Amino acid sequence: MIEVELNQEELLKEFEDKIANEVKIEPRDWMPDEYRNHLIRQISQHAHSEVIGMQPEGNWISRAPSLRSKKILLAKIQDEGGHGLYLYGAAETLGVSRDQFINWLHEGKAKYASVFNYPSLNWADVGAIGWLVDGAAITNQVSLQRTSYGPYARAMVRICKEESFHQRQGYEIMWKMMEGTEDQKRMAQDALNRWWWPALMMFGPHDSESPNTGNAVKWKIKRESNDRLREKFINKTIPQAELIGLKIPDPNLKQIGEEQYAHGDIDWKEFWDVINGNGPCNQQRLEHHIQAHQDGAWVRECANAYHTKSK
Ligand code: 3HC
Repeated sequence: MIEVELNQEELLKEFEDKIANEVKIEPRDWMPDEYRNHLIRQISQHAHSEVIGMQPEGNWISRAPSLRSKKILLAKIQDEGGHGLYLYGAAETLGVSRDQFINWLHEGKAKYASVFNYPSLNWADVGAIGWLVDGAAITNQVSLQRTSYGPYARAMVRICKEESFHQRQGYEIMWKMMEGTEDQKRMAQDALNRWWWPALMMFGPHDSESPNTGNAVKWKIKRESNDRLREKFINKTIPQAELIGLKIPDPNLKQIGEEQYAHGDIDWKEFWDVINGNGPCNQQRLEHHIQAHQDGAWVRECANAYHTKSK
């Protein structure tokens, strides 16, 4: 077969045609550097979120109220570690090593979801995290199944299946507590009060304040904007709260149509503070990750030695 060398202009045209025609971009395909860098940033940050997100829930494994709930929570947290692996794998196809991604996280150069910088104070928080945080994550990730980069889109398909189990696990905890004693009901409401706004912040700043949305939408990395996804999440979550007797902690919430709501103002100062490292648990989360990474050095050394020997 004769290979025809294309010039930059033709390569760009081929890339743009693929995007326009919903053909996935694959690792060996030519892509503009900005597209590659955008994906490296987003996918690796997404991977870090999955892994750091194991910490607030891991806090409750040893104190789960029953063997059943402990087993389910363990399985869920293990799934999150797996999601991190699929996503680091997808990000590595863009030519950056896993070590580099981890270094960027440890040096504070890479972000992870702001929501994981809040503390999980009691068992109801495990319910609220599953229901709201995983619920928000799926809303975003369902749309990312159609993202333009092949390895990212395929990772999302499997992750979404698992996240929908996680969302139900969290909702089941809240629902059980709302059928319990007055104290349990108060705990569930208190957890919703504390996790509602951080969950809304997961979708990122308003579209007009989001520097990355323009390119992300142009290249079909993002299929829906931050605000649109936030609205979708709110519209589907409010009826779930009402069904079990929980009240959304937003005095300005208004129903504006059938299953359509307008929400009150988000505290963007709090959002940027958390993103810039000043949330209640930022330091603790990062230190824990660094410590765990150092403690695991011998495992990586053994795996590398075995790999080298078996070549
Ligand atoms: N937490 C931390 N950083 C955030 C953020 C949040 N909730 N929302 C926005 N940011 C950051 C962005 O990363 C960006 O900073 P950067 O340029 O240094 O990377 C800056 O704020 C401006 O935001 P933009 O809207 O311009 O950024 P994006 O277009 O990248 O949109 C996003 C942000 C919606 C989070 C998008 O990156 C995205 O969809 N990422 C993939 C999904 C993801 O990361 N989800 C994490 C959820 S947790 C999870 O999945 C774990 C599960 O187990 C619950």
